[in-house]
Amino acid sequence: MNRTHNNGELRLTDLNQEVELKGWVQKTRNLGGLVFVDLRDRFGITQIVVNPDNINYQIATELKNEYVIYVKGTVVERSSKNKNIPTGEVEIVAADLKIINEAKQPPIIVADETDALEDTRLKYRYLDLRRPVMKNFLITRHLAMRATRNYLDENLFVELETPILTKSTPEGARDYLVPSRVNKGQFYALPQSPQIFKQLFMVAGFEKYYQIAKCFRDEDLRADRQPEFTQIDIETSFLNQDEILTLTEEMLKKIFKETINYEIKIPFERLTYQTAVNTYGSDKPDRRFGLLLNDVSYIFTNSEFAVFKDTVTKGKVVKAIVVKNAADKFSRKQIDKLQEVVKLYKAKGLAWLKYEKEFSGPIAKFLSVEEKVALVNTLNVEDNDLLLFVADDLAIANIALGKLRLAIADKLALIADSNYDFCWVVDWPVYEYDSEENKYQALHHPFTMPKKEDLNLLYTNPKECLADAYDVVCNGYELGGGSLRIHDQKIQNRMFEVLGFTKEEADEQFGFLLEALKYGTPPHGGIALGLDRLVMLLTKTANIRDVIAFPKTTTAQCPMTNAPSLVSAEQLAELNLKTK
Ligand code: AMO
Ligand code: AMP
Repeated sequence: MNRTHNNGELRLTDLNQEVELKGWVQKTRNLGGLVFVDLRDRFGITQIVVNPDNINYQIATELKNEYVIYVKGTVVERSSKNKNIPTGEVEIVAADLKIINEAKQPPIIVADETDALEDTRLKYRYLDLRRPVMKNFLITRHLAMRATRNYLDENLFVELETPILTKSTPEGARDYLVPSRVNKGQFYALPQSPQIFKQLFMVAGFEKYYQIAKCFRDEDLRADRQPEFTQIDIETSFLNQDEILTLTEEMLKKIFKETINYEIKIPFERLTYQTAVNTYGSDKPDRRFGLLLNDVSYIFTNSEFAVFKDTVTKGKVVKAIVVKNAADKFSRKQIDKLQEVVKLYKAKGLAWLKYEKEFSGPIAKFLSVEEKVALVNTLNVEDNDLLLFVADDLAIANIALGKLRLAIADKLALIADSNYDFCWVVDWPVYEYDSEENKYQALHHPFTMPKKEDLNLLYTNPKECLADAYDVVCNGYELGGGSLRIHDQKIQNRMFEVLGFTKEEADEQFGFLLEALKYGTPPHGGIALGLDRLVMLLTKTANIRDVIAFPKTTTAQCPMTNAPSLVSAEQLAELNLKTK
């Protein structure tokens, strides 16, 4: 009793063959005595017919959804063909039929369309994963991993593993900690990334490393963030930035080709960080639509509209986006809703104008003829355009309008989701200044190499210092990021100094790396791509949980296993821990 074919295979060319199939009952229909069974496995669905004169007919009438069954029978041509499935021109007339295992009534329907709550789907994830859409998400993930490995293997990379029980790595999130039983009161941290270890592989002379690596970050979860996620993690020695970008582009090209047969165009355009944030209001710009940010401060230096004039006088900015040919789509109420969006990002308000032969809107009366002419000319204003302004600090205006841009694109359905738009964001600042805490923070991580021409700024004006760092962005997602690394101990020490580490603190946390840098460290650099985000793009899902077999909810729980959970008093005692 074995199978000769899978359930996605049989065609008209197989007519009259005797075949044996196994699988799950997708559904049964009893039509005038004939029992039809849709038999499903990973590969597809095949229709089975059981005649009333079959000795197993009784069994056929008792089949329920999700029973596992065996069928032996003959391939015949169907009289009513189903064009929607590849096996739709044939069916199997059953001779033998056996139930291999029964099934309880499943709590979710095993079909692409589902109205089950996500909590139920996650609780019965093994049933959820029977749904063909879900199965295909994970198979795409497999194909992407295979293409990645093939590409990197062909390019002489070595796949190496790094520890999961380790020391904290500074990627900017909170650590997951694991108490040590043997060393009471001490903790391992789960890696936020293999960053330091991959650099040590370069010191060790491997030259080209990769790993499909699990990373753990205790941060607030979002649609594209999980506490436990996977990186395609890469590190190389002796390559310059261009070479690393090219390698990444070629790898992505191969992955898209081999996974979804899509040709992406390389090389990707490169934007500086400055351009990205000033033009798109984001360091991960979605460039599939317009609504660009324009600095119109210079128009309002002497304006009657006090909000704009005062802002410009204080050295801040007035920035605008033009919503083309859509003024009629926004009522006052809807513009108030847009105002809510920018206020979420700390903007004080959203001023607006509509244009139809002339400007209208609450601020129109404050604007001079010259200002209006300047707006029309600078922004190419036409009839039925809507202009939206934020006057604020540059950073606030950028972020608020950047988010507004996305909200409007969503509302007006401006994004054609059929294409992929890749770009690089390069020339990142080394630091960002945290004015609340009054200290510098690494924008990438503290091992990122400042640009050669900016090295002296590390000592004189760290704020202005740019890094050899790069992010690859696709359709508004940060798909990956990397940098050239510091291979010089003196620069690494200065880096920690600016970040406010004392020598002792730096030694305590990273002493092993600083020591390693003394033993002939090659120039090196790398990148890590978020595999989960990559698969989200490949499968065009907006939910990261769709592409992870057993994901966590947004409250970092697993409804199936009920992790995290309480542990016994004995376990805690053994670890020398008490819970409050
Ligand atoms: P970074 O922190 O930018 O870089 O991470 C690299 C990529 O990993 C993905 N990613 C995530 N995906 C899902 N859930 C998360 N919580 C999450 N966090 C990050 C993103 C991101 O671009 N060590 C450096 C890389 C390097 O410098 O080589 C690093 O980890 O797609
Ligand atoms: P007000 O004078 O506060 O009534 O504001 C007049 C208009 O300007 C309202 O539509 C406000 O939303 C808008 N506004 C107020 N402050 C700002 C600002 N900083 N940037 C843009 N618009 C603003």
